[in-house]
Amino acid sequence: MNPNIAAKGFVDVKISATLNLFEEIKRLKKEKNAIILAHYYQDGDIQDIADFVGDSLGLSQAAAKTNADIILFAGVHFMAETAKILCPDKKVILPDMRAGCSLAESCLPAEFAAFKAQHPNHLVISYINCTADIKALTDIVCTSSNAVQIVNSLPKNQAIIFAPDKNLGAYVRKVTGRTNMILWDGACMVHEIFSIEKIQHLMQQHPNAQLLAHPECEAHILDIAHFVGSTTAILNYAKKSDCNAFIVATETGILHQMMKDSPTKTFIPAPPNNGCACNDCPHMKLNTLEKVYNTLLYELPEIHMDETIRVKAELGIRKMLDLSAQLGL
Ligand code: 13P
Ligand code: SF4
Repeated sequence: MNPNIAAKGFVDVKISATLNLFEEIKRLKKEKNAIILAHYYQDGDIQDIADFVGDSLGLSQAAAKTNADIILFAGVHFMAETAKILCPDKKVILPDMRAGCSLAESCLPAEFAAFKAQHPNHLVISYINCTADIKALTDIVCTSSNAVQIVNSLPKNQAIIFAPDKNLGAYVRKVTGRTNMILWDGACMVHEIFSIEKIQHLMQQHPNAQLLAHPECEAHILDIAHFVGSTTAILNYAKKSDCNAFIVATETGILHQMMKDSPTKTFIPAPPNNGCACNDCPHMKLNTLEKVYNTLLYELPEIHMDETIRVKAELGIRKMLDLSAQLGL
């Protein structure tokens, strides 16, 4: 049977309630020589069944070196697309094709090409959270783990376009002291939802807690953070720190690994500026263990890509991976 995924974007086949999904997923992985790469923003059960859980840099590095025939990417579309760019001969599958990214969607290729044309002589550095079309217009891709180091590796007088995240871009510009760096006006809906007033109130209630923030957050949040870093950097910081309590300003999925790594420490999700759980990424959270199972079973939905775009997009990602290896990242 080949289920039709066009209407819904995922395999909507009912699964027997008696099936042990963990065991079945393990069995299918082995049978098909498949691996599951999962981002820290995935639900805990998906992280627990994954072969590798990481930040965007770690996940690209894992995709680049895998010998598996199938990569199931438990993350969002641009992540699975990046794996496909790096592994064109492998089958890359994503549990839900609708798992997009507000940040990637804030940078459309035609507009970005026009912006680029207005700024000749600028080197384009794009955050990995963008579409393959934007990567194809990019000189060097970066992640939140290596953006500062990549910019620092360039000559001081090099003019730069940084896209698509204005918050990460502003943070990199501040840390590197670059004045000749212009920013695309994009942002992540999850990292812009935090309330500074509520965070400050929490900090007063927990005076010994440290604020850990992802650089996709707005500058006023980063300015009061004790530590700013990628998801992996935040995790490592919390693990090694002598501090026992943390307020975490990034997507809530990361708390699963934080609590696994440091079960005696307290992790408090930074509150959003409204009453709902808006610091859950609605795109990441479209993936479920049931969809992971069906995706592996039917090998659908699969990522396909125009080869001309793929080849162009690969250049900037390979430059990032090479630079990261040279920089020991
Ligand atoms: P990192 O895990 O690379 O820090 O990225 C965070 C993110 O927003 C991914 O969508
Ligand atoms: Fe995109 Fe933000 Fe969700 Fe990450 S958390 S996938 S940047 S919308």
